Amino acid sequence: MTGYGASPSESHFASVRGVTLPVLIAPSVLPADFSKIGEEVRALDEAGVDIIQWDVMDGQFVPNLTFGPDVIASARSYSTKPFEAHLMVLTPDVMAQRYVEAGCQRLIVHAEACTHLHRTLENIRGMGATAAVALNPHTPASTIENVLDLVDMVLVMTVNPGFGGQSYIKTMEPKIRQVRDMITARGLGDSVHVEVDGGISPTTIAGAAKAGANVLIAGSALYRDPKGLAHAVTELRALATAAFTA
Ligand code: DX5
Repeated sequence: MTGYGASPSESHFASVRGVTLPVLIAPSVLPADFSKIGEEVRALDEAGVDIIQWDVMDGQFVPNLTFGPDVIASARSYSTKPFEAHLMVLTPDVMAQRYVEAGCQRLIVHAEACTHLHRTLENIRGMGATAAVALNPHTPASTIENVLDLVDMVLVMTVNPGFGGQSYIKTMEPKIRQVRDMITARGLGDSVHVEVDGGISPTTIAGAAKAGANVLIAGSALYRDPKGLAHAVTELRALATAAFTA
């Protein structure tokens, strides 16, 4: 069960060490043309992405400001793919329900922004969405060891959040591996995903997948591919599937 609703095709699955997980490519909408956000979401859908990620920023938790729930709701009808909201916000509890109502199937909250992370994740699940937790580069993997039963994904940031187009932080790979191994050790290997976000490109994606990431967020790398979005999605998925190690 991918926890995403739509099941990826068989070709997107990788089985390693007895763990079978889909290898999923999810775009960040951040580099898209906001003046036509609906068409941009449709283009991402048609390019074959598995999920669409909205980088929600409040100008407080990160020094940038992006999408409110109404923007996401306005794009919902342009794609049938699952939406997830990456809540880079100081108070995720305040707005979580609005993002679910806007059409997001998953909410990702930052451990650093949650005084009561366990309760926040429980509340998100109570809203009928799946819950995920994100870790900034400085935050240790141990932070989430007591909430793995409440999430269907852990996001290991491979940049400091706030902007697209940053360089991949390769020193995060041991943490990706640590999170993947924590999940497997808890017997959750087939149901809890590891996502990475930041600086993912054809030259960095294999390292992240080899370390155990099976959901890969890409923004700049998709939009700067001269052969177009579909080529970028296909290339990234092939590189990640070949390298993925559970
Ligand atoms: C950081 C953002 C970016 C974005 C992806 O807060 O979350 O990581 O999604 O940007 P690229 O793929 O351009 O690094």
